Amino acid sequence: MISSKRILLVIGGGIAAYKSLDLIRRLRDRGAEVTPVLTQASEHFVTPLSVSALASQKVYRDLFDLTAEAEMGHIELSRAADLVVVAPATADLMAKMAGGHANDLASTLLMATDKRVLIAPSMNVRMWEHPATRRNLARLKSDGILTVGPDEGPMACGEFGFGRMAEVPQIIAAVESALGAGPLQGRHVVVTSGPTQEPIDPVRYIANRSSGAQGTAIAAALVQLGARVTFVTGPASVPPPAGVRVVAVETARQMRDAVFDALPADVAVFAAAVADWRVANAADRKMKKDGSGRAPALEFAENPDILAEVAHLAPDQRPRLVVGFAAETDDVVAHATAKRARKGCDWILANDVSEGTGIMGGSENEVTLISAEGAELWPRMAKDEVARHLAQRIAGVVA
Ligand code: C5P
Repeated sequence: MISSKRILLVIGGGIAAYKSLDLIRRLRDRGAEVTPVLTQASEHFVTPLSVSALASQKVYRDLFDLTAEAEMGHIELSRAADLVVVAPATADLMAKMAGGHANDLASTLLMATDKRVLIAPSMNVRMWEHPATRRNLARLKSDGILTVGPDEGPMACGEFGFGRMAEVPQIIAAVESALGAGPLQGRHVVVTSGPTQEPIDPVRYIANRSSGAQGTAIAAALVQLGARVTFVTGPASVPPPAGVRVVAVETARQMRDAVFDALPADVAVFAAAVADWRVANAADRKMKKDGSGRAPALEFAENPDILAEVAHLAPDQRPRLVVGFAAETDDVVAHATAKRARKGCDWILANDVSEGTGIMGGSENEVTLISAEGAELWPRMAKDEVARHLAQRIAGVVA
């Protein structure tokens, strides 16, 4: 599965760098091509000569190495890979990645890449447990960075705990799964999820009861099939899935901007429960009772219809497949079919949320897929299962 894949391996400056020499060998045994990048610090632990000999490749070391730039610029270098692996990922490298620094070759490549990035953290247990590392790790995960390890055990510094870099077979398994020859490999999917919040004043807002569960399950199912997912989410009550890039928003207008910033995409799935209206006369200070007994009157303005805007983009900008949702309480197929035509999307997943179905807030869903071919009723199944079905159908169209 990793044979003939190109892996850009950034070796950080930690004692575990010695394991990276073995990692290079084992990756090459499996037919992968490894392009090594050393940080200045890692040269204290492994030599460019041994790394280059094991990789049978030039070692990239310095951002301002003009001969290397003439051969292959740093942007190209990061794009030519199928996967970027950082092993060991030191506390410092993780901090740089989380902060978006680009002041040496390794950090610049990590900022410039459009490929998946897998990190194998390695550091002293106290550094691993430090709140700064916790913060950085959370940020990296929400940026869609994949992680493997660290393991628990005795450390080179004499302490015991979490921080040992994952062993080579474990890293290889993570590389295989990151490269997982899933049918959506190389495809970019934008998924919207959760509710939006529309401010009334700085402390109050109008929202809805969407939990974000169905959108989250869809994003996770797409990742499973190898897609690169940008997950644009309102304030949901379930955490975002692993392996996606999370863009957190509050209002419909922020969600629209985030979706357009994330384009181009091969597919867009609109699972968010977007507020149709925002408060047009929202106050910029907290509203107070004035003693007159009169309640304030809210005025509303219509929010942008993100799904319709994206579905009506020019063909060279429009995702190949645009999927919307329709929650209906009666005449599901007729209403959803009309909605599909009005919004200009390719598919609508429609469901009946009328009382008694137990769907709203429940764990199961019964959907009808409305497409140009007509309506197709799916049997009632768990929301996770609906997500997997949808991801498979998407793969059938754009893989
Ligand atoms: O019109 P209605 O809200 O029923 O349409 C639902 C579909 O449209 C969902 O896929 C939802 O995510 C999307 N939508 C949107 N922007 C809006 C309203 C709805 O993307 N402002």
